[in-house]
Amino acid sequence: MNALHDPALVQPMRDWDHLIQHDRVHRSIYTDPAYFGEEMTKVFGGLWTYLCHDSELPTINSFKRVRMGLRPLIVTRDRAGQFHALFNRCAHRAATVCQEAAGTASRFTCAYHGWTYRNDGSLLAVAHPGGYGDTLDKRALGLKKVPRIESYRGFIFGTLNPQMPPLADYLGEVRRYLDYFIDRAPGRELVVQAGAYRGVFHGNWKLAWDNAADGYHPSFGHRSLFEMTRVRNGSDKGGTHFARDPDDSPMYCKAFPYGHGLLYQRAGMGPSLWQRVRPTPGSEVIADQLIAELGEKAAFEALEGAPGAGINLNIFPNLLIIGNQIQVVEPLAHDKTQLTWHATKLDGAAEGVNQLRMRIAEDFPNFGEVDDMETFERCWEGLQAPEAEWVMMHRGLHRSASAGPDADGVQTVSATDEAPMRNYLKAYRAIMESEVPLVVAD
Ligand code: FES
Ligand SMILES: [Fe+2]
Repeated sequence: MNALHDPALVQPMRDWDHLIQHDRVHRSIYTDPAYFGEEMTKVFGGLWTYLCHDSELPTINSFKRVRMGLRPLIVTRDRAGQFHALFNRCAHRAATVCQEAAGTASRFTCAYHGWTYRNDGSLLAVAHPGGYGDTLDKRALGLKKVPRIESYRGFIFGTLNPQMPPLADYLGEVRRYLDYFIDRAPGRELVVQAGAYRGVFHGNWKLAWDNAADGYHPSFGHRSLFEMTRVRNGSDKGGTHFARDPDDSPMYCKAFPYGHGLLYQRAGMGPSLWQRVRPTPGSEVIADQLIAELGEKAAFEALEGAPGAGINLNIFPNLLIIGNQIQVVEPLAHDKTQLTWHATKLDGAAEGVNQLRMRIAEDFPNFGEVDDMETFERCWEGLQAPEAEWVMMHRGLHRSASAGPDADGVQTVSATDEAPMRNYLKAYRAIMESEVPLVVAD
């Protein structure tokens, strides 16, 4: 393993007490490109970063391209079935060696000068080796690797930080809610094998995090969607449970250690998730078929698996569970962010249920996420005024401060409190101001 000596880690002293206060944060943590460079190295590298789901690499020799911050990676499954997270970066002169988004390959050949690597990262051969005489040390010239990758029920994460606790501890109480999301599958496994919905917004990645457990915005930010739903389908469908006063609702938020968060909508959604779903194209036909096949009772039980679990679960820094989908936050630049929504199927569920999951998965990104991305761009535009320095995050401080964390360090607050935002920024600050010992494996 090699210690990294990246100049991005040697930063001038910053006054974090000034930048991130208990009730507000300074605009520059969003707008300053210097922070972005450091975030991409330390936050996405020093913490456990979500890479992909193991069902996306279903066979030996499967691979998938992902990013860890700005680092290009290839997650591979070698011929022994072992997973690797390789830097997609030729050891010769840095060209990427894999251009495909995903597929199967037992080796990767760089298109620049033909160096070829096995899918465990080792250098297999160089072109015209005579030009190196006997100086070529192939063992030292493999693709660099993320030294620690671990998975929790198929969710694969990586870190370059040897001081990070095991993934299970990093997730902590969050595992309960991931289990709840996954255990809706009769076979108790999630399958991520469909396409993805991608959207890019002009703005900083943390704007998506500010919104991730925000139960305050839906009745305003998604007003046109809720109004359309109410007129077409009635007031008990879709996200209309936010349209009443969300403070006067059993919904709540949780703030977990390491910056993770939860908005537990389920508590405000009534007994049946299926009954709340806005109709999607063909949904009545598919539901009728299921009833004919399984009988009414079994069909309605199965249909409960089609919608999302009623949770927004946020695993810092880049994984959001929303509806029945997995969203990955991918920063591209300080002012450009990609959000990728991966559809999921339930292992062992009736085919009709998984068809409905796809239709429902198409629904919110097309009708609701566009509202959020427009909002993020409006925030980004507003942040360009340097004289207006502060972003306020003090909602609910008076009540959440008195609630305090429980024995596990988890805080439970009203669905509209900004505690989850204050919480992820606490974790953000902790990693940004620490000396992160990043290492890579050969
Ligand atoms: S850069 Fe890859 S072989 Fe030269
Ligand atoms: Fe939203």
